[in-house]
Amino acid sequence: MKADHRDTLLLAFEKGLANEPEAGQRWAFLNAAPLPGDAFREALSCEQAFRPEFNELKSAGYDVSPSLEPGIHDGAIVIMGRVRQVNHANIVRAHNMVRDGGSVVLAGSKTTGILPVRKWLSEMDVEAEVLSKHHAQVLVFRREGGDWDMPAEAKETGEWHIEPGMFSAEGPDTASRLLSEFFSGRLKGKVADFGAGWGYLSKQALELCPEIGSIDLYEADWNALEAAKLNLAGADVPTEFHWCDVTRELRKQPFDRIIMNPPFHTGRAATPELGKHFIQAASSTLIPGGRLLLVANRQLPYERTLEGLFRKVTALGEGDGFKVIEAIKGG
Ligand SMILES: C[S@@+](CC[C@H](N)C(=O)[O-])C[C@H]1O[C@@H](n2cnc3c(N)ncnc32)[C@H](O)[C@@H]1O
Repeated sequence: MKADHRDTLLLAFEKGLANEPEAGQRWAFLNAAPLPGDAFREALSCEQAFRPEFNELKSAGYDVSPSLEPGIHDGAIVIMGRVRQVNHANIVRAHNMVRDGGSVVLAGSKTTGILPVRKWLSEMDVEAEVLSKHHAQVLVFRREGGDWDMPAEAKETGEWHIEPGMFSAEGPDTASRLLSEFFSGRLKGKVADFGAGWGYLSKQALELCPEIGSIDLYEADWNALEAAKLNLAGADVPTEFHWCDVTRELRKQPFDRIIMNPPFHTGRAATPELGKHFIQAASSTLIPGGRLLLVANRQLPYERTLEGLFRKVTALGEGDGFKVIEAIKGG
C-alpha cells in the first residue's frame, strides 16, 4: 500500500518527536484510522464518528467509540480532516484530554488541513516540532498549563442544530430542498430517511405529510444523527435514529416510503456506486407497492439501477442541476 500520513505519523515517533506509548499508558486517538502494523493498538482509545470507519477499527481489534468522554490520557493523536473548524475543535479537545507534559501529535496529508494548523498553533504561542514526508506532515507539541477554550467557530449556530463537518453545514441543501417540494400527498405510513444527515428531509416530511405514522432515520455520521435528534425533538409521531452503514448493516424493516438524497462521495472521490447501494438497500426494505423518492445530480446514472429493481420509475421534476425520481416497488 502507498505510504501516507499514517506512515509519517509513525516516523515522527521513530524519530523521537514524541515518545511511543509505553505499556499501561492510554492515548486518545481522534478521527482515528487503523495504523500500519496496528502500531500502539493496545494503548489507543479511538474516536471515530463515521460508521464505516468505526466498523473497520472495531473489526481490526481497536477500542473505539463514536465520541470519547473527556478524561486524562498520557498522550493524544489527531488525524486532520478537510474541515478547519473540526480540526481546531479536535486539537483543543486532544490538548485538554492530555496530562501536563504529555504529547499531542497531529498528522495529515498536505491536501487536508494540516498546513494551516501550524500557523494557527503559533498564533496561540504554541511551537510545534514538524516532520514532513510522504506528502504529509506531523506536528508535535506538549501540553503545558490549563485547558484551552473551544473556539467559537466550532459551536452550532442558526435555526437548526448543525455543526461544522456535517453534510450541508451551512443550512438546507439545494437538492434536498428540491426533493421536499415533492413530499406533499406522497408520504404516509412507515417512512425511512436513508443518509438522514442532521434531519432536514425528515423534518420537512413530518411538517408536510400528516399521514406519516412513524419515521426512521439512518445515518453513518454519529454527530449528524445526534443533531437530527435535536432537530426532530417534539415530533408528533414515533421517531427512531439508527447509527449505521446503510449499505451493509441495515436492520431490515418493511417501510411504506423511503426518502433520500444519497451520498455519492467517499472523501473527495465521486463514487456513484455508493448511491446505487443505497437504492438497492431501499428496494430490499420497501413493501410491495412501496415508494422511493430520491434526488440526485442530473448526470448521475441511477435510472438503470432503479429500473432493474422497481416496477415503475418516474421523473417527477428537475431544477438547479438535480433531478427528483419516484420509484414504485413491484409485488
Ligand atoms: C447527500 S447527504 C444528505 C443528508 C440529508 N439527508 C440532507 O438532505 O441534508 C448524504 C448523507 O449520507 C450519509 N452517509 C454517507 N455514507 C453513508 C452510509 N454508508 N450509511 C449511512 N449514511 C451514509 C452522509 O453522512 C450524509 O449525511
